[in-house]
Amino acid sequence: MEILGIDIGGSGIKGAPVDVEKGMMLAERQRLDTPQPSVPEAVGDVVAEIARLFNWQGPIGCTFPAVIKHGVAYSAANVDQSWIGFNGQQLFEQKTGCPVLLLNDADAAGIAEMEFGAGRGQPGVVIMLTFGTGIGSAIFVDGRLVPNTEFGHMEIRGKDAEDRAADRIRTEKDLSWEKWAGRVNEFLERMEMLFSPDLFIFGGGVSKKHEKFLPLLRTQAKIVPAQMLNEAGIIGAAMAAKSLVR
Ligand code: BGC
Repeated sequence: MEILGIDIGGSGIKGAPVDVEKGMMLAERQRLDTPQPSVPEAVGDVVAEIARLFNWQGPIGCTFPAVIKHGVAYSAANVDQSWIGFNGQQLFEQKTGCPVLLLNDADAAGIAEMEFGAGRGQPGVVIMLTFGTGIGSAIFVDGRLVPNTEFGHMEIRGKDAEDRAADRIRTEKDLSWEKWAGRVNEFLERMEMLFSPDLFIFGGGVSKKHEKFLPLLRTQAKIVPAQMLNEAGIIGAAMAAKSLVR
């Protein structure tokens, strides 16, 4: 089954048709800039443009970096505030003329990693984390997702966890790997206290450089880098949209 997967991020919107049984992209992905300000109408136009580039008519799975319930966004940490309470799924359906499923970006990445990547066949409690502009999270219990967890907004030292430990902070503040890993360790320690996971999957763009910091992370649970890197969002979004077809 082929489904178009689209991954909306703070700076880019990427998409490709996906074979959802094989967990593979079927064409080179297209990337367009996220419009600034990232208001719904403008983002919807870019989503429609990506669908048009592939001449797409069929189901679309699409990620968004926010809490998403039944197509509606309920947060907007790194996107325009006008998303809060807005039904993005409906807008994207109007713009593309295709059925659309909208879901949280880290949830989508986790879905892909659990089926085809680092979490394959992994029972018990698995926590997928994505470190980028923010910190995204997805928690799985025996392969079943509890959506919209938003662990990146947990309070640590009086601040949003992602404002201390996202990869954006590492680059903005020019933190050493040791210093940043210290902050990530505080976050992971809190996760372990709350959920006693069996496995952490460390994702986001920075996971490409995992040999620099994974050895500095201290967890009881095993911690492994994500395997699907920047394809996970696209593939996971397409996989989640299988429900539109059934
Ligand atoms: C958002 C999450 C998102 C994460 C990664 C956070 O700021 O609140 O919904 O998953 O960033 O993009």
